[in-house]
Amino acid sequence: MEVKTSLLDNMIGVGDMVLLEPLSEDSFLDNLRKRFDHNEIYTYIGSVVISINPYRSLPIFTPDKVEEYRNRNFYELSPHIYALADEAYRSLRDQDKDQCILITGESGAGKTEASKLVMSYVAAVCGKGQEVNKVKEQLLQSNPVLEAFGNAKTVRNDNSSRFGKYMDIEFDFKGDPLGGVISNYLLEKSRVVKQPRGERNFHIFYQLLSGASDDTLKKLKLERDFSKYNYLSLDSAAVNGLDDAANFRTVRNAMQIVGFMEDEMQSVLELVAAVLKLGNIEFKPESRCNGTDESRIKDKNDLKEMCELLGIEQSVLERAFSYRTVEAKMEKVSTTLNVAQAYYARDALAKNLYSRLFSWLVTRINESIKAQAKTRHKVMGVLDIYGFEIFEDNSFEQFIINYCNEKLQQIFIELTLREEQEEYVREGIEWTNIEYFNNAIICDLIENNQNGILAMLDEECLRPGTVTDETFLDKLNTVCAEHQHFESRLSKNSKFLTDHSLPHNCFRIQHYAGKVLYRVEGFVDKNNDLLYRDLSQAMYKANHSLIKQLFPEGNPAKVNLKRPPTAGFQFRHSVGTLMKNLLTKNPNYIRCIKPNDKKASHIFTDSLVRHQVRYLGLMENVRVRRAGYAFRQPYEPCLERYKMLCKRTWPHWRGPAREGVEVLMTDLQVNPEEFSYGRSKIFIRNPRTLFFLEERRKQCLEDLATLIQKIYRGWKCRTHFLLLKQSQITVAAWYRRYAQQKKYKRIKSATTVVQSYTRGWQARKLLRELKYQKRCEEAVTTIAAYWHGTQVRREYRKFFRANAGKKIYDFVIQRIIQKYFLGLRSSMPSMSPIDSSWPSRPYLFLDQTHTELRRIFHLWRCKKYRSQFTEEKRAVYEEKLEASEIFKDKKALYPSSVSQPFKGDYLEITKNPKYQKLSNAVEEKVLLADVVNKINRANGKGTARIFLLTKKNVVLADQKTGQVKASVPLPDVSSVSVSTQSDGFFALKLKEGAASAVKGDFLLSSEHLIEIITKLHRVGTTAADMEQLNIDISDEFLVQFKQDKVCVKFIQGAPKNGNSVSCKRKNNRLLEVSVPTTAA
Ligand SMILES: Nc1ncnc2c1ncn2[C@@H]1O[C@H](COP(=O)(O)OP(=O)(O)OP(=O)(O)O)[C@@H](O)[C@H]1O
Ligand SMILES: [Mg+2]
Repeated sequence: MEVKTSLLDNMIGVGDMVLLEPLSEDSFLDNLRKRFDHNEIYTYIGSVVISINPYRSLPIFTPDKVEEYRNRNFYELSPHIYALADEAYRSLRDQDKDQCILITGESGAGKTEASKLVMSYVAAVCGKGQEVNKVKEQLLQSNPVLEAFGNAKTVRNDNSSRFGKYMDIEFDFKGDPLGGVISNYLLEKSRVVKQPRGERNFHIFYQLLSGASDDTLKKLKLERDFSKYNYLSLDSAAVNGLDDAANFRTVRNAMQIVGFMEDEMQSVLELVAAVLKLGNIEFKPESRCNGTDESRIKDKNDLKEMCELLGIEQSVLERAFSYRTVEAKMEKVSTTLNVAQAYYARDALAKNLYSRLFSWLVTRINESIKAQAKTRHKVMGVLDIYGFEIFEDNSFEQFIINYCNEKLQQIFIELTLREEQEEYVREGIEWTNIEYFNNAIICDLIENNQNGILAMLDEECLRPGTVTDETFLDKLNTVCAEHQHFESRLSKNSKFLTDHSLPHNCFRIQHYAGKVLYRVEGFVDKNNDLLYRDLSQAMYKANHSLIKQLFPEGNPAKVNLKRPPTAGFQFRHSVGTLMKNLLTKNPNYIRCIKPNDKKASHIFTDSLVRHQVRYLGLMENVRVRRAGYAFRQPYEPCLERYKMLCKRTWPHWRGPAREGVEVLMTDLQVNPEEFSYGRSKIFIRNPRTLFFLEERRKQCLEDLATLIQKIYRGWKCRTHFLLLKQSQITVAAWYRRYAQQKKYKRIKSATTVVQSYTRGWQARKLLRELKYQKRCEEAVTTIAAYWHGTQVRREYRKFFRANAGKKIYDFVIQRIIQKYFLGLRSSMPSMSPIDSSWPSRPYLFLDQTHTELRRIFHLWRCKKYRSQFTEEKRAVYEEKLEASEIFKDKKALYPSSVSQPFKGDYLEITKNPKYQKLSNAVEEKVLLADVVNKINRANGKGTARIFLLTKKNVVLADQKTGQVKASVPLPDVSSVSVSTQSDGFFALKLKEGAASAVKGDFLLSSEHLIEIITKLHRVGTTAADMEQLNIDISDEFLVQFKQDKVCVKFIQGAPKNGNSVSCKRKNNRLLEVSVPTTAA
């Protein structure tokens, strides 16, 4: 369950002054001080919030606090400005009542801050969404822009609002902000040209010079030095806690958010710069020859730069500063301006330029933030107007400001004090009157149309003849002398003749907030607010869109000879409109109090606060509140609002509304002391009772909502059910139809199947019968045929049985042989003589034929092969064949010679010129020429010799010289000996007794041993006169060297000798040839 709290919980002092006991001014102040000391800056008087400026930031404005106060009753939590904002917002949203928040208090009391807090609270609690957030942001961001241009440091407040501001925030029916409208009231423009000691010009000038980039300043022709500008006071240019540069960035950013275009921002800054430049234009006197005084601009540089900034022709402006043209009914008179008048004109232009720029800014912001939707809006107005001011030197501006504050006090009095008390009397409620000061009399002194001060001032300004501030004071002295709140030394009222605190050029008004002394100097001028037409025309000619807009009266096509309304008149008028506007709304008051004059935190100056409490009428406020009723409402809306709380009045009460309310109150058993019945309204004494009613109503509304919900849900469910039922019937009908269709199709197809089976069965039965019939017929035919056949075969058998066997045998054999040959033809082996393949034999009885055919085929293909040979090739093959017959399987060297062709003449003996002599010495054709080694018997070493074989001789010649060493006729050669091994040794053995055998046999070695021996053997075979040459192949043979026979023995050589064959003499009778095994 939600825990209800109250402002009475953990209270410091009393949170609501209505509860203060005893009630006196001192206890009132004590309570305020006590709360202030404990950082409780807010205190209530009923629904009015008193706010004391803490001059430091307190942690009570956080988002958590916003949530805490959101949708809570006013008295539920400790006093806070958020509670008031919430109350106002909810009344606006839920009860459709337009609201206004009136924030009053003197300068520096915290009005502007309070207004911002209210706006930020409302922004935080109202609806959200992209569009809504944009509107909120624009509304909030309008503040920094207007503060930069409209606020300034004064002695009382470092951020004093120098204009009045009233902002209407518009909401839709849901409470979402739609937009807003800002109204501004009289900017204190005199500040532009002159500031009192210790004060500054408007913030924007300092912000621009401190915060703008070098580039921007250059474009604006400005320098970052305050001392360069006459209009900027220097003694307080820098303010503690104010960062002008950072603020400038904030302002630019805010302008962007609000919707200012880049060129608009630039134009605005150009105007600000132009005002600064204007202040630097100075004049010097010059006398004309006709004696009149004239003025000249001292240094035209500033004028030039200003004209460049604003796009004005320099000469035009220069002339406007030198002459004044007065037009009166078709007549134009130009007079020159003296120095004082020129300065006056310059300042008037600066003031007008700035104040018009300010008004334009407000209009421009309004354009951005205005509500788009045309539907009826609910409105919450926030009024933050300049506070009541008493300076040492008070002028027209203070007069106007204080007048405005008087009017606000008047509204407060009207609505809270007078109106309330009068209402009690009117309604016939028992009431003891409470005395209070009504400031209507002061308002009348100022604004009365006949003899009010503003009316007098206007009259004076419009009067022909010389008009000065003194003549104005004289007038006041006559007209207002009797007024009890007007004091002047020279008034007819002799009371003040000796009052030395009242100088002669001043008048004093006893305002509700105290006496203020006004110096009349400047009243007439400021009220007139004259800008020479020459200047406005010069401005209109500017080639700068914004300037042109600001001075529409300068348009020569629209010359208006009528005087413009005076400043006082305009202000009075706009204040009047504002008051009328405020009276249509439900007011919510925030009364701001300033705790000290030092802008310091923690200091509570009793006298200062007491003074404010008095003039704000807070004590009276408490008294009226305590004696009166917190809430009232006419009977009809009251009954309408709460009739659901009683069975008798719900839903309709048929009778007078008052009786209905009485029935209601009795039924609810509200304590009779808590309310009174007036003539047309019921008065509720305590907010508690109202909250009780509201709480019950809320509960009841919830019950009613539940009831409505119940009925609605019932209706909705029933409708839904009926719809479902209807749909179900439709679906079922469709489904049934579909199911029946499906069933019918199934039966139909089943019938067809059964039918087809029956028909098939019948057809097959018929077919069977027909087939049987046919088979019977065929069987008869077959039997008949066989019978006939048997008959015929029986008759002819005796004719072919005797020789049928041989014929069949021959036929079969013939067929087999035919098949054999055809098969052989398709599987013949290749034509290569060395191909040994032959198809296998198919039948045993063909074995011989098969072998014979193989042999014939081989011979045939060999013959075919041989027939391709040429004569030479044939000789070579014959030689090779012979070599094979001699050496195959006998000598290990043979296999390696098979692949070597027998070349014969290895030395090309006939062609080589080196052997020409040798060639000539040999007569026959050389069959073989090669280099051989002749083995020496003495050491077994070889000597290279040319070996020539002809048909008749074997010749050995010197290899180098070609000289014949030995020539052996072939018939002398008896035999040749070679080893069985792979060496090239051979011995040519000669016949004993032959002439050539004198030196003995030859032991030679050659690489071409096989060829040499074969050729030698061949020559022996072919020659008719020679015997067959013997070839002896053995590993040991004898060789005849001269007289001795030497044995040559071939042994398997040891591997250490390498691959070469070596021959060594072992002894006189033995030569050992070692043949390496690898060579074998
Ligand atoms: N609630 C607050 N919390 C902290 N400081 C505050 C608060 N209210 C006011 N101040 C301080 O007091 C200064 C003056 O307040 P503010 O400008 O609101 O006064 P004002 O009543 O609007 O004065 P003026 O009539 O001159 O415009 C602020 O600049 C701020 O420093
Ligand atoms: Mg202010």
